[in-house]
Amino acid sequence: MTVHFIGAGPGAPDLITVRGRDLIARCPVCLFAGSLVPRAILSYCPDGARIVDTAELDLDQIAEEFLRAQKRGEDVARLHSGDLSIWSAMGEQLRRLEELEIPYTITPGVPAFAAAAAALQSELTLPEVAQSLVLTRTPGRASSMPEREKLSAFAATGATLAVHLSIHAIERVCAELTPFYGADCPAAVVYRASWPDERVLRATLSTIAQAVAAAPMERTALILVGPALGARDFRDSALYNRDYRRRFRGGPP
Ligand SMILES: C[S@@+](CC[C@H](N)C(=O)[O-])C[C@H]1O[C@@H](n2cnc3c(N)ncnc32)[C@H](O)[C@@H]1O
Repeated sequence: MTVHFIGAGPGAPDLITVRGRDLIARCPVCLFAGSLVPRAILSYCPDGARIVDTAELDLDQIAEEFLRAQKRGEDVARLHSGDLSIWSAMGEQLRRLEELEIPYTITPGVPAFAAAAAALQSELTLPEVAQSLVLTRTPGRASSMPEREKLSAFAATGATLAVHLSIHAIERVCAELTPFYGADCPAAVVYRASWPDERVLRATLSTIAQAVAAAPMERTALILVGPALGARDFRDSALYNRDYRRRFRGGPP
């Protein structure tokens, strides 16, 4: 018996990996984080599967589900939204499974920031404009931020920022970022990227909060900020430059 953690992707049911879909189809038990995992993904479960929404369970109750499946010798598909490496609460479940000596696998998924960038039709790293992407959040009711992970500290780098779990605090986010990026810096909000009701707002740091207030949205939205979002006059990369000799085009290996 094995617990298979699977990144369910940002929303669209066809934005799960082939491996993830096939694993779901093989597992007689499916535990899914109901607040964000799209129900359509559950159609990949085999007939008669035990399907449990873990939104209202605590960690002990989730562990009980793992133990129940272990007793019956049934593999478990454990679904979380997006990818599992960020804000999935997978870490504590892995620790429990290790204590229980239950084996597990991990199958990555398409993260929300990638779906949001696709909705914006943007590359988030552009030559000489931004070469780093910071995936971050602001503190929540139950989650403080480590002392050195202040938004202002990341903003000081000028990198592209993808601010998660913070749409309710967009005014504060913009106020904190403006001294570093300037009021005219491009900013965007992508609401429910890849879902049928996806919405994309493009503005600047000084106007994006207003745009959100005019089109109210809650929770499942990502704030993106940085000069790469609006840049048009960036230089081409060396990758496809005719004069740049590289490994696959006659250059040194
Ligand atoms: C608990 S985190 C989960 C992140 C997820 N593990 C990932 O890989 O993207 C939830 C936050 O991710 C962002 N998010 C998740 N799905 C999204 C989507 N489809 N569109 C926009 N933002 C999304 C929102 O900021 C939301 O508050």
